[in-house]
Amino acid sequence: MRINKFLSTAGVASRRKCDELIKNGKIFVNGRVVTSFVDIDEKKDVVEYNGERIILPSSFIYLKMNKPKGYACTASDEKGRKTIFDLLDDKSVRLFNVGRLDYDTEGLIFLTNDGDFANRIIHPKFEIDKEYIVTVEGKMQESEFAVLRNGVVVNGERMPEARVKPISFDGKFTKLSVVINEGQNHQVRRMFEAIGRDIKLLKRVRIGSVKLGNLYRGKVKPMTEEEIESFK
Ligand code: URA
Repeated sequence: MRINKFLSTAGVASRRKCDELIKNGKIFVNGRVVTSFVDIDEKKDVVEYNGERIILPSSFIYLKMNKPKGYACTASDEKGRKTIFDLLDDKSVRLFNVGRLDYDTEGLIFLTNDGDFANRIIHPKFEIDKEYIVTVEGKMQESEFAVLRNGVVVNGERMPEARVKPISFDGKFTKLSVVINEGQNHQVRRMFEAIGRDIKLLKRVRIGSVKLGNLYRGKVKPMTEEEIESFK
């Protein structure tokens, strides 16, 4: 197997980042640094990064979680806050989150040990839809939806276009569906900040064709075969 594929499948980083690690001399095979995309025997060769041996998982795990507000999407939080991994019953298997949700965002997130699967969802070239339900105070106007749809400008940079659909206004809060297919940091919050709207609640309800459904807050369940295959 090509060394960069091996590293990304093992979940070291995205394929592009793994290419960089190799070029920057950070990867060792059988004690020797490699700086080109050599083929390795994943059963026999010893591949190391940061002094740690990298191995392919013997079987893949795919979970979906309803992340609650107030949990960080990281293996260990530098501020000592609760993390989504605290919500897992079995902490013995090394999993990583596919993309991130902000500390204050809730909703659908995948956890896996399959780096290729994660890359297919995160990489912008695959344009996987992510749908959010956004709740903002006050009644939003059609003109504001139009600005969001066309790509709002944040600090001189035009944000990608979003599919925006109003859902309801209950006299106090507007609820809307926002679909984006990139995953820039704090993308949805920055879009709304740029039009002067404060988000009260941000919840991801769909990734590709996989819906959050009725999974309880803080709960995890295995993805179905069909859900996994939908990204392949
Ligand atoms: N956009 C945001 O601003 N935050 C999230 O958590 C996800 C998307």
